[in-house]
Amino acid sequence: MERIAIGADHAGFALKEEIVRFLQASGYPVEDMGTQSDESVDYPDYAVRVSRAVATRQADLGILICGTGIGMSITANKVKGIRAAVATNGYMARMAREHNDANILCLGGRVLGAGLALDIVQAFLQSRFAGGRHTDRVHKIQALEQASTT
Ligand code: RB5
Repeated sequence: MERIAIGADHAGFALKEEIVRFLQASGYPVEDMGTQSDESVDYPDYAVRVSRAVATRQADLGILICGTGIGMSITANKVKGIRAAVATNGYMARMAREHNDANILCLGGRVLGAGLALDIVQAFLQSRFAGGRHTDRVHKIQALEQASTT
């Protein structure tokens, strides 16, 4: 089973706890990279931890949760090798894997109820990159990353 790195800020903390319990009960190896309370923290710190774990193959996939998922995705996508996608439903999560070969799922703890969030997580984890015509498109994203000067 895929090794999952997970992280959240204070706005994603409660949902992270639910997702960690679900992943462990489902048998996924999970590395919880914090935060560990609802005390205010800065989401980029957690986005970088999880993104580096995925980029260095310490984990196969990542899950990041903040209030909306947006700040986490903006930050994660700055890390080379990361394709992070916000999803608010199972279809988006499935497409993120099948078409975009996303390796990090970003969720909004202030947007989603736990039931919907767990459906989204399952859709993400059960889907696979479809390859084919999508491969060239992902390569074009990777080429941009290689050409980047920062
Ligand atoms: C924290 O208040 C909030 O800004 C953060 O969780 C996230 O939603 C940012 O994108």
